[in-house]
Amino acid sequence: MAEKSEFRRYLINIDSISTQQLFTDCVVIGSGVAALRAAIEASEHRNIIMVCKGTMQDSNTYKAQGGIASVLNKADTFESHIADTLSTGCGICDENVVEHVVHQGPELVEQLLQWGTEFDLTGGHIATTLEGGHSHPRVAHAHGDETGRIIAETLIKKVRQISNIRILENFYTIDLLTTEDNKCVGIIGCDGQRGPQIIWAANTILATGGIGQLYRETTNPEGATGDGIAMAYRAGAVLRDLELVQFHPTTLYIAGATRALITETLRGEGAILVDNKGRKFMKNYHEAAELAPRDIVSRAILAQMRKTESTHVYLDVRHFDRTFFAQRFPFINELLDSFDIDIKKDLIPVRPSAHYMIGGVKTDTSAQTSIKNLYACGEIASTGLHGANRLGSNSLLEGLVFGKTAGQAITKSTRATAAHLKHPLIQYQIPHSDRTRLDTEDVRNSLRALMWRNVGITRMEQPLLEAQEIIRFWQRYVMDKIFDSPAGWECQNMLTTSLLIARTAEMRRESRGVHFRRDFPDTDDKNFKKHIEIKRET
Ligand code: FUM
Repeated sequence: MAEKSEFRRYLINIDSISTQQLFTDCVVIGSGVAALRAAIEASEHRNIIMVCKGTMQDSNTYKAQGGIASVLNKADTFESHIADTLSTGCGICDENVVEHVVHQGPELVEQLLQWGTEFDLTGGHIATTLEGGHSHPRVAHAHGDETGRIIAETLIKKVRQISNIRILENFYTIDLLTTEDNKCVGIIGCDGQRGPQIIWAANTILATGGIGQLYRETTNPEGATGDGIAMAYRAGAVLRDLELVQFHPTTLYIAGATRALITETLRGEGAILVDNKGRKFMKNYHEAAELAPRDIVSRAILAQMRKTESTHVYLDVRHFDRTFFAQRFPFINELLDSFDIDIKKDLIPVRPSAHYMIGGVKTDTSAQTSIKNLYACGEIASTGLHGANRLGSNSLLEGLVFGKTAGQAITKSTRATAAHLKHPLIQYQIPHSDRTRLDTEDVRNSLRALMWRNVGITRMEQPLLEAQEIIRFWQRYVMDKIFDSPAGWECQNMLTTSLLIARTAEMRRESRGVHFRRDFPDTDDKNFKKHIEIKRET
């Protein structure tokens, strides 16, 4: 009974004969940097449909503050960026991928500049700053702390100008369509007005982003509900390292406000963490203090909160010049202003929140997944770049590089056009169930609280087992329903993805990078210097 949901291939009934249909060479799902860059690249030789469940602005990319990491000045080297990425990744980065991404960086960042991205400049060159784990200032930023929005807007503008890219906003992708011989042939989704639609595609690029909304506290936008992982799982793709969820150490902690990111580059520019007694504490936890890797800062904050019996700590920026602060961090400045926080007098209350999914759909160096004609890039993909811990600002870079890679892979395949696509008959029926009435909002909130409590920053066997048992119970009466709107499908996807995270977190019986087990506090290279892969049993 409990496993029933895991064997359901699709979330809705499908009859491909009677469903409205579109045809394309390539469908791209998502609207972040990876999706946009992939669409631009693939559009050079292919017709593209881009779909996103909200607007083109609803992505983690759009909210990114700190920047994009790359070797952009003479004092820095590829070797150094590679070494920092590998050392932060705690032994399980794929070195080929790290080298590929780092080497591609400068050219692709320069291309963004050429395409109109208003990076902050110094002396006519792109200005760079420090973030934790980087041994050189190599984080490029735009409009201060609005890097993601500025990059996204450049790419969205470009995509909108390309005539063979058709954009469907508010289109919720329900499932990937696959054949019995493990080939992806497109997607089924719904735009709210016309009901279910099939988009048959010779190639599909999954770039649906993150999972932050599975947790009560998150920096991610509303749409980051792990849909991509759940639909890839149902389709039978190999998933990897789902236990590796990165928590950002410093998000604004004000009751009633969203957990807005307070960028790490603020610490890069000299902000200091203090506890509720005003004491600096980071040196007690790591020699790099405020600029230690994120997992260490997050756990240090948690420990200090416990020690002082407080719900949060503070960032102290009172030594910053007011004008510099307003220019360098305009988004944060406005946000703090709106809560009457005066940076010259007040401390900024912060605590960690779920931020980034390091694991995801396993891909090779061409962004190819284990399913034919299905590619993945951006946060949804597990490329091997980040290992067990992502270096700050390496993710926009990864999205850019692998977006381009996925787009290129599609254009290289000569038969990858709609004209060559033999779409199969797909008919799928789910037994009717109206056993229970359901408040999906309540399920969602309860799940987010459970994930925060039992599968959060530090983990233990018993709470991980309990989380799985509870989620399986909830699945019994949520997964047997056929919903007809995104709220229901999201709820189902959130349960599926959460269960996979809890399960893999239980499987990794060691501590490595962002995954910290209080019952196994040491890194166990003998048994776990490896990836954890998971795939739906069929
Ligand atoms: O702190 C930040 O600005 C976040 C950057 C990142 O997640 O890469």
